[in-house]
Amino acid sequence: MKLPHHLTIKDHHLCIGGHDCVRLVQEYGTPLYVTSEDRVCEQFLHYKEALSHQYPKVQVLFAAKANGNLALMRVLAQLGAGADVFSAGELHLALEAGMRPEKLLFNGSSKTPADLKLAVEKGVKISVDSLDELHQLDAIARAAGTIAKIGFRVNPALEVPTHPKIATGLATSKFGIPHEKIPAAYAEALACKNVKPVGIHCHIGSQILDVEPFVRAAEVMVRIAKELTHMGVQLEFVDLGGGLGIPYHHDTDPAPTPEDYAKKVVPVFKAGMAACGITPELWVEPGRFLVADSTVLLTRVNSTKMTHKSFANVDAGFNLLIRPAMYDSYHEVIVAGNADAATTTECTVTGPICETGDILAPDRKLPKFALGDILAVLDTGAYGYAMSSQYNSRPRCPELLIKGSQVALMRRGETIADITGTMLRPPWQR
Ligand code: LLP
Repeated sequence: MKLPHHLTIKDHHLCIGGHDCVRLVQEYGTPLYVTSEDRVCEQFLHYKEALSHQYPKVQVLFAAKANGNLALMRVLAQLGAGADVFSAGELHLALEAGMRPEKLLFNGSSKTPADLKLAVEKGVKISVDSLDELHQLDAIARAAGTIAKIGFRVNPALEVPTHPKIATGLATSKFGIPHEKIPAAYAEALACKNVKPVGIHCHIGSQILDVEPFVRAAEVMVRIAKELTHMGVQLEFVDLGGGLGIPYHHDTDPAPTPEDYAKKVVPVFKAGMAACGITPELWVEPGRFLVADSTVLLTRVNSTKMTHKSFANVDAGFNLLIRPAMYDSYHEVIVAGNADAATTTECTVTGPICETGDILAPDRKLPKFALGDILAVLDTGAYGYAMSSQYNSRPRCPELLIKGSQVALMRRGETIADITGTMLRPPWQR
């Protein structure tokens, strides 16, 4: 199996950043998320440089929803990243990580007045999703005695080759304002006293392995930018969103690179902006590409059994990685202590959750393994821990970070006390 270079095999053991996964588990237990910091840095710089090569004013905003661990966000902040934040919580994390407010975009399709107030107070730009939101924001900025800088989220009505649950710019999607109604929305914004439109934003979906849909989106955004410029909007940024996918099937999926994206998409953007006579910043919001393959989820085999087929029951389920259950997503599985052996066993890897759908990996060909062995589930750095839960009252597992020869927890494991700690006893039960 093709592996990214931070994953290697030494003496038949899978290593991440040079650290033996079986050893890590001996020290930290299972389940365990393990992330290579160096890989995250490498992916960020790769993305940033590929685009900057084509256009001088590029801003990479990390999609914080993909992985909200402060240790990673801090590293990205130090490399100059901004962030796409989709909640007050993500905004707090981005600021605490040291990201500068002018590099943040507050996104969201259903913001509360408190969200809008926070965004105004922190001076971050806001991607407005509806006219209702525009007018609430105008009033909130007026009360704060300030002017909020905004863009609208454009729905470009584009079909994209991905799972339907993660296509976000279809004509039927809940996000944004239909592209044909966008000029009218900006006209309304221009008439507001405490809102200043300075950008436009779109995001067409996630895990997209073909760059053509991004080209189509850029074409829509260029067309809109021209109309807006004629209307007198001074565009400071055009945000093309995130969505570049990674090859989950390591040997067979296409693996478009940031260079492929940059070479096809940026010229469309550049020519369009030149035609408008403007040079706004080009913003992009990758999440998955920056962090997905940096991380493995290590899980112990609690038991194996043969019924109508062979099962491996492991200690991580959809409480820790919901993507296979939610999107039928494919994650490579490696027997961490027998990583390069021939695949001889067909088995389905299932979690400990009381649900039939708690399957991490159906019908896989794996090398021989037994009770007590460690399986590594790959490509779990994006939307893995970020979407975890305490379902079945299972405390969440720790997250470990590796940098060169150093290893440290970047999040401790939860305990039962973390689960019961927020529960209150109603007075009549005392
Ligand atoms: N910008 C916006 C406005 C977004 O909504 C998203 C993701 C991104 C950027 C980052 O997209 P990325 O580069 O990571 O594809 N939980 C799903 C993915 C949901 C993505 C939602 N929005 C999964 O596990 O596949």
